[in-house]
Amino acid sequence: MKGVILAGGLGTRLYPLTRVTNKHLLPVHDRPMIYYPLQALVNVGITDITLVTGGNNAGDFLRLLGSGKEFGLKHINYTYQDGEGGIADALRLAEYFADSQKVCVVLGDNIIENNFVAACQEFSKQARGAHILLKEVSDPERFGVPVFEGAKILRIEEKPQRPKSRYAVTGIYMYDATVFERIRQLKPSGRGELEITELNNMYLEEGTLTYSFLEGWWTDSGTFDSLRRATNLVVETGANKMPSKGQANG
Ligand code: DAU
Repeated sequence: MKGVILAGGLGTRLYPLTRVTNKHLLPVHDRPMIYYPLQALVNVGITDITLVTGGNNAGDFLRLLGSGKEFGLKHINYTYQDGEGGIADALRLAEYFADSQKVCVVLGDNIIENNFVAACQEFSKQARGAHILLKEVSDPERFGVPVFEGAKILRIEEKPQRPKSRYAVTGIYMYDATVFERIRQLKPSGRGELEITELNNMYLEEGTLTYSFLEGWWTDSGTFDSLRRATNLVVETGANKMPSKGQANG
């Protein structure tokens, strides 16, 4: 499975910090934000990775990460997103890189305590479809929220005013090769973006979206509150912990 990190967008919720740099280059404790999703992919054994970025500071990613040697990589691919067309719009740009293989997508502002080896193993057994990771949160209205009927997800609602569950759809997604064909069918939402939630709902309607629960803490870091929370969590407990041997074998 190939890896895609989405680090485009303008990060306006962090103005004025993001007026002169890209959100994903801001520090989270002792490392730039982008280090965390990159390490998260490497920790599950994904080494063929592309980074989609955008805005005025795209060249800084190359200066910072280079070939990815610091992460044990031989090479990182870089792609540029014009404008801020949404998460699915950024993912669209990875089609050539994916080359008809499955992809694991991580949002550039998502930080996790542990790893998601178990979910990768689960998805590798799945011939087609998609897999999402859920996490119970205190503020689901900020995220994509699954609506359950028993253990079945009926649909996912994006930032609902009245969330129908306490779970967030985290920014870690796994897709089969049909994902790019599906993105072509998406229409811009009210906020003018191609929404990842609509993409996931397409798989749901077809009955091929599976899910699991993410172990350990998870947070985004795209607002002042969540950036502070991310920093505190990293300081207190560390991020991207490797699996113990038992866990890795599922
Ligand atoms: O963090 C998980 C949440 O991420 C999900 O629960 C939501 O369903 C999903 O829509 C998303 O919500 P946000 O509103 O927090 O997404 P945001 O616009 O902050 O974008 C998250 C990352 O996606 C950002 O750090 C970089 C990437 N991105 C975003 C946009 C809008 C791009 O690469 N290009 C873009 O145009």
